[in-house]
Amino acid sequence: MQKPTRIAPSILSADFARLGEEVRAIDVAGADFVHIDVMDGHFVPNITIGPDVVKALRAHSDKVFDVHLMISPADPYLEGFADAGADILSVHPEAGPHLHRSLQSIKGFGKRAGVVLNPATPASVVDPVMDLVDLILVMSVNPGFGGQSFIESQLDKIATLRKMIDATGRDIDLEVDGGINFETAPKAIAAGADVLVAGTATFKGGPDNYADNIARLRGTSS
Ligand code: DX5
Ligand code: ZN
Repeated sequence: MQKPTRIAPSILSADFARLGEEVRAIDVAGADFVHIDVMDGHFVPNITIGPDVVKALRAHSDKVFDVHLMISPADPYLEGFADAGADILSVHPEAGPHLHRSLQSIKGFGKRAGVVLNPATPASVVDPVMDLVDLILVMSVNPGFGGQSFIESQLDKIATLRKMIDATGRDIDLEVDGGINFETAPKAIAAGADVLVAGTATFKGGPDNYADNIARLRGTSS
């Protein structure tokens, strides 16, 4: 069932020169998850951070570390990110030939396993792995960069996945990533999402605004 909305600020929009401080600031401001975008310049056209940075950030927050792997292959790096302190590890099906094996590995490392669906990837891809998955992440932009516009056509996919998740009776989070702001957040929630990733919208205006931004995204402030 759809749970109360949780907010996962993407630190891609944080000040990278003060990353530890930024993670502490969003923690105090009410973030539920810390969303960490890992990019390799190969699966997506951008390069960001690796396991050493995740490890260094771990000391700055006890919140759920939600690690979104936009790397191919992902399998050789799963253990490194697990050891670094990830709580959730999410992979794209296109990143390797054996999605089921990737999810088994993540579970084997004692972590929650996520599958990420690009805008052109159908909901049906997760159907055969619903027994293994703990989180489904719907990309509402093409992965690679923050600050892009929400792709409205993904709302139908979110609604389809909400039905698929509820039919299993399992505790599976339904997360949306990309272009989430005060206008699009309510639409994603209405479609059935219960975790919202937000980079630009969380970090807008600097640290004094993080708590208000997060509350507004969650829908608990006006
Ligand atoms: C895109 C990343 C997103 C991104 C979201 O590849 O997966 O997490 O940082 O950024 P905003 O919220 O600015 O669209
Ligand atoms: Zn992401």
